[in-house]
Amino acid sequence: MRILVLGGGGREHAIVAKLAQSPRTSALFCAPGNGGTVFLGENVSLDIEDPQAVAAYATEHAIDLVVIGPEGPLVAGVADAVEAAGILAFGPTAAGARLEGSKSFAKDLMARHGIPAGFSEAFTDEAAALEYLDEVAAPIVVKADGLAAGKGVTVAMDIHTAREAVTECFDGRFGEAGTTVLIEEFLSGPECSLLAFTDGETVVPMAPAQDHKRAYENDKGPNTGGMGVYSPVPIVTDTEYATMIEIMELTAAGLASDGIDYRGVLYGGFILTDEGPKVLEFNARFGDPETQVVLPRLDGDLVDIMVATAERRLSDIELKWKPEWAVSVVLASGGYPNEYEKGRVITGIEEASALPGVTVYHAGTKVTDDGSLVNAGGRVLNVTALGDSFSSARDRAYEAVAKIEWDDMFFRTDIGAKAMRGRDAWKA
Ligand code: GLY
Repeated sequence: MRILVLGGGGREHAIVAKLAQSPRTSALFCAPGNGGTVFLGENVSLDIEDPQAVAAYATEHAIDLVVIGPEGPLVAGVADAVEAAGILAFGPTAAGARLEGSKSFAKDLMARHGIPAGFSEAFTDEAAALEYLDEVAAPIVVKADGLAAGKGVTVAMDIHTAREAVTECFDGRFGEAGTTVLIEEFLSGPECSLLAFTDGETVVPMAPAQDHKRAYENDKGPNTGGMGVYSPVPIVTDTEYATMIEIMELTAAGLASDGIDYRGVLYGGFILTDEGPKVLEFNARFGDPETQVVLPRLDGDLVDIMVATAERRLSDIELKWKPEWAVSVVLASGGYPNEYEKGRVITGIEEASALPGVTVYHAGTKVTDDGSLVNAGGRVLNVTALGDSFSSARDRAYEAVAKIEWDDMFFRTDIGAKAMRGRDAWKA
């Protein structure tokens, strides 16, 4: 099969690497791709949020399957256009992607289908939102309804901060995404991501993973796209895992009963509360960096799985997992998630990758005209290690990290450290 993957992050490098292992793959293209995908296929320049441009490229290049990584193209309707051109798309249509593209749509769906989540109120009027804040207590969460590149969520520890967040959402900085604002219950407990393949009828869960959203050690500092991750998650009980799967099944059934043909990855972002897992958010795609620990553990052919998902034959598929644990540490540009310098030469990736069980996924990297590999984004590399135990995977990941450098590189040294201390670490 000739396969086009849309996106250019660590997630897409991990997807491309897994697709490259399949005997069914004859050619791989990645738009825009990065300094890692370029060694596995052809990086192409394409406006990935323009559905017609993607469909035209796929038709001209005889693509058999388009895999849509990020949320932007999903919400824009790329899967719809690709399917209309008679080409298989992996990823939901625009109607399904609203689950991520509109938080109020997701909250409404959850409320109607009895899916456990925190309370939530949506506002299109600033004065009404501020008035509501007089009635609730902090901590409280303020969210822009639409896609805001991870910047539209404020966990306010006091009402003053919540009021500021409401005013900021309505001041236009998030464009259309901020014209509706949600005020939501603050849920307390460990976070856990559960990704599942679904063809709208069958739901095949993947292994749980736990991301680290904050920029600095001990979960301090601003929110980021994710600074490190591991899978499976040792602190998740069997009962919690079973409940999360039930919630994913309920969600897929709810989408189907609402007439939405949802095929692709359903990503449940959960909080493991004292009352059981509750949904924090849904995403309509693979997680980043969750994919960089989940796919290396997948013992199977990703092309088979994606094609079966797109063709509504997921009941034919049984997922198998390698017994190893996986830990991934994100290496970021100094200053991320704010301003940072680009173009710094990166060294040590070959030495790191030579360690047993280690794969270095590229995110914000590029190869310059003189052949140097440089940083080109905030999150630059994901150093993933597999190991026979959680601690050995973690040790290997950090051993590999120590071999890589560029001026101003930064990373968290405590990925997985809290989980090593057990569930009580979340009560401290
Ligand atoms: N890891 C968070 C996300 O993919 O949205």
